[in-house]
Amino acid sequence: MMYDYIVLIGILSTCFSFTNSASIPTQPYKITNVVTRSWDEAIALAKGFATQMTLEEKCNMTAGVGGHCAGFVSPVPHLNFGGLCFQDSPSGVGDGVQFSTAFVAGIHIAATWDRDLFYQRAAAIGQEFRGKGVHFALGPMMNIDRNALHGRNWEGFGADPYLSGENSYYYVKGLQDQGVVATAKHYICNEQESNRTYHPKTGPSQGYSANLDDKTMHEIYLWPFAASVAAGAGSVMCSYNQVNGTQACQNNKILNELLKDELQFQGNVMSDWGATKVGVESALGGLDIEMPGRDGLMGYALLPAVKNGSITEARINDMIIRILAPYFLLGQDQDYPSLNLNNDATRDHYLLNRHIGTAGIILLKNIDNTLPFNMNTEKFYSIYGSAASRYNDGVDPHGLDGLDGALYQGGGSGYVRPTYFIDPLTALLTKARDFHLQIQYVVDQDDYVAINYSLENSGFLGGKCLVFINAWSSEGRDRHNLFAYHNGDKLVNTIAARCASTIVIVNSVSQLNLEAWIENSNVTAVVWSGLPGPEYGSAIVDILFGNYNPGGKLVFTIAKNDSDYGTNITETYNSNYTEGVFLDYRHFDKNNIIPRYYFGYGLSYTTFSFSALMISKVGQENHISQSLYRQRRVSSYSNKALLRFYESVYSITFTITNIGNVDGSEVPQLYLSFPEEAAEPPKILRGFERVYLEAGESKTVTLVLTERDISYWNTVNQKWIIASGKYTVWIATSANNADIKLEDDSLYTYFIDNQRTINHQLVIFGLRELNSTETKYICSNQPITDPPIIDKRFDFTSNYKILIYTSGCYYLDANNHWQSNGLVVGPLTNHYQTQCYSNQLK
Ligand SMILES: *[C@@H]1O[C@H](CO)[C@@H](O)[C@H](O)[C@H]1NC(C)=O
Ligand SMILES: *[C@@H]1O[C@H](CO)[C@@H](O)[C@H](O)[C@H]1NC(C)=O
Ligand SMILES: *[C@@H]1O[C@H](CO)[C@@H](O)[C@H](O)[C@H]1NC(C)=O
Ligand SMILES: *[C@@H]1O[C@H](CO)[C@@H](O)[C@H](O)[C@H]1NC(C)=O
Ligand SMILES: *[C@@H]1O[C@H](CO)[C@@H](O)[C@H](O)[C@H]1NC(C)=O
Ligand SMILES: *[C@@H]1O[C@H](CO)[C@@H](O)[C@H](O)[C@H]1NC(C)=O
Ligand SMILES: *[C@@H]1O[C@H](CO)[C@@H](O)[C@H](O)[C@H]1NC(C)=O
Ligand SMILES: *[C@@H]1O[C@H](CO)[C@@H](O)[C@H](O)[C@H]1NC(C)=O
Ligand SMILES: *[C@@H]1O[C@H](CO)[C@@H](O)[C@H](O)[C@H]1NC(C)=O
Ligand SMILES: *[C@@H]1O[C@H](CO)[C@@H](O)[C@H](O)[C@H]1NC(C)=O
Repeated sequence: MMYDYIVLIGILSTCFSFTNSASIPTQPYKITNVVTRSWDEAIALAKGFATQMTLEEKCNMTAGVGGHCAGFVSPVPHLNFGGLCFQDSPSGVGDGVQFSTAFVAGIHIAATWDRDLFYQRAAAIGQEFRGKGVHFALGPMMNIDRNALHGRNWEGFGADPYLSGENSYYYVKGLQDQGVVATAKHYICNEQESNRTYHPKTGPSQGYSANLDDKTMHEIYLWPFAASVAAGAGSVMCSYNQVNGTQACQNNKILNELLKDELQFQGNVMSDWGATKVGVESALGGLDIEMPGRDGLMGYALLPAVKNGSITEARINDMIIRILAPYFLLGQDQDYPSLNLNNDATRDHYLLNRHIGTAGIILLKNIDNTLPFNMNTEKFYSIYGSAASRYNDGVDPHGLDGLDGALYQGGGSGYVRPTYFIDPLTALLTKARDFHLQIQYVVDQDDYVAINYSLENSGFLGGKCLVFINAWSSEGRDRHNLFAYHNGDKLVNTIAARCASTIVIVNSVSQLNLEAWIENSNVTAVVWSGLPGPEYGSAIVDILFGNYNPGGKLVFTIAKNDSDYGTNITETYNSNYTEGVFLDYRHFDKNNIIPRYYFGYGLSYTTFSFSALMISKVGQENHISQSLYRQRRVSSYSNKALLRFYESVYSITFTITNIGNVDGSEVPQLYLSFPEEAAEPPKILRGFERVYLEAGESKTVTLVLTERDISYWNTVNQKWIIASGKYTVWIATSANNADIKLEDDSLYTYFIDNQRTINHQLVIFGLRELNSTETKYICSNQPITDPPIIDKRFDFTSNYKILIYTSGCYYLDANNHWQSNGLVVGPLTNHYQTQCYSNQLK
């Protein structure tokens, strides 16, 4: 079925008023009939292709060649291969091409906390890349919002690795389901722009170095990349910076060890544009294709290196197979549209863009139900701020600093040139026309004569004052500070001093310091409009007037004091991630710092109640209830090796009820605390779902915890390990402990692996239900009468206690499977069960 989701959006837009699609659809959205393959099949085809290439052709293919795209892989005419086109950006087809939808920014889609929307946006983006004949999209961008000032935060998904991981996963799925290769970037720890680049003449020859420990790498920065690889991403882009003193694009540890060995990534590593500093060393370090090429480092330059043996032909073959496998993986060898970058591929994606633009807007403050406005009684609106209106020079702020005007995206290579732009002022004027409202406005925010005059305009006294402020940023440089542009704070304070109902609309790339006015009692409402794309005007009007009940949630913490974040960009060429895993809310929690607004926070026009939290082990029998969740996660091109970690092991169900008078949505968030052994922050986000409820409606929500979710990175074993002991599950509406709605601390886990066996013998925990004489293995939940199916996990709740254990007859074989040597373990009724002998063990 084609266009399924278009139909869905059509329905959404006709009943936009407080109504939203509530549940995960039964089928993944199929937009085009793309036939994808498995990695094994794709690699076999790529191998077959590579054997028909000469060594020179293969070497040449390892660097980009000239072409219309941002990057272009050389064609091989005698094999009917036309080359590959790589093009920016994560939020639509970029690099200034025409007839492209400028989708809401990464930071904005993340703020919807809605996996269906993550997927739909990515699918629509994929359609546009495909429609223009582009093979690789240079996205998603998943660097963590570690530094509030980072110029590229707007392209990413915020400050939490789990949330970034979910976004990355569904982005890769959405894009690749359209047959377009996703490029996960920027690998890795590109969390600032300052001094990222190579200045052979004017400065150091290397980018700054991100220095961080192994646990932090795995649990924070690698996490979203792992999710992308699990989803089956075809490409990963290495970054400009160094990691631990070695350039990312020649860093054996991060490319060969972490990415290709540990994560079993089978696609290619491409360099960020100009991030390659040397040839042979990069190829050996794990770089597969150099972009944009033409600098003599790789490509043809590798030919003499192969001839003199400094690089093997096997490695060149590996590079070629990795470059071509994604092309076969996603069926780009069959009927792929031909390249035409200015082809109009926008369809009616503006409808989806409007929907996600609205869904990502966050209500931060709303005293005495200031919002939504009541158009019957509230007729007078004064509008202030250049951020309410258009740029003086049109809708193209590409690369320009300090521009006023409403923002729909940020600047740099992530920017997409829109075909049109509806600013808030235009949309408000239209609203006034249609609903008989009276409006005045001053958008020149230096013109305090006009501003003062408007505040004395007797007709508008007692009316509403809407103040629009913004903060822009771009690739290539970091923000100078966290204040609103163009004296935005002064503007708010001037209005609020004389208008008792001042509503501030914050249109910002990422964190902003709100302290100058946030506690002012005349600032009765604050709306975080984010970076909502070119339908900004339509979206904000729907929120302000209650056609859509806001439900977005912050994807970073907003501090009261900039120094509270505890991290900052550096100009020393060493960015030391000394905070470790204590980033954003994890840092505020640990240090008991009260922020202005918590991670995960956002208000609604309605209220919700929560009840009936239940945790259960996911066994074979209740996989069915998870089937939708699981179905959406797997495709032919998923990374099968990694997916094991993403299988659900616990399901957490609870009930949520809309107890207010209007329809709306809430985002229950699952925070988990780990046993001490894991050395984790007080709580970590490990689940969420945006739930849409009509007034009075109740729903049972099921979240799942995967093996990865309850594991920590054990630096000694170099493995993800489930910690032994007590976990606490909280269901909350933000990272604020005061917003915890449900709590369950009955989840105990015991994990048995090689490290915890004695002489490679399994220590079996026998479990007995309280007040029962029957001993059970909780892993199967069955009394042990037959040899138990030994799982590597044993989990039990407080209803059980450990009664016995035994050094038994099981061992881990070379394939990490439990073996029993054919011996039978009888019912475990005694303290020590020793039917098996050590000498029979391997
Ligand atoms: C490989 O690239 C070199 C340098 O650009 C060029 O001279 C040569 O013709 C190319 N070889 C093939 C087989 O395309
Ligand atoms: C490093 O970054 C800082 C801040 O952006 C800048 O002032 C300085 O010139 C940069 N150093 C070099 C060598 O480019
Ligand atoms: C970086 O160095 C730290 C400290 O020596 C080490 O724990 C970590 O594994 C290293 N990571 C990488 C990617 O080199
Ligand atoms: C092999 O060739 C490469 C590329 O020309 C060169 O950089 C390297 O020094 C050579 N190595 C030896 C051992 O000759
Ligand atoms: C506007 O009014 C404020 C408060 O009354 C005053 O401080 C300021 O000087 C006025 N500005 C202009 C340009 O008139
Ligand atoms: C709020 O606005 C009123 C005018 O309506 C003004 O008299 C009052 O001083 C303002 N309060 C604050 C805290 O600025
Ligand atoms: C912010 O924190 C710094 C460092 O702790 C302190 O010096 C400063 O006074 C604080 N600023 C405010 C406005 O509280
Ligand atoms: C980062 O450091 C700069 C310079 O010291 C300071 O002005 C700024 O407030 C800091 N920002 C944050 C977010 O800590
Ligand atoms: C960061 O760590 C490096 C290497 O350990 C050290 O040389 C440097 O002084 C540290 N830089 C800062 C800003 O702390
Ligand atoms: C177990 O037995 C004790 C005492 O016999 C009793 O107090 C307790 O309620 C029982 N617990 C359960 C879960 O039945």
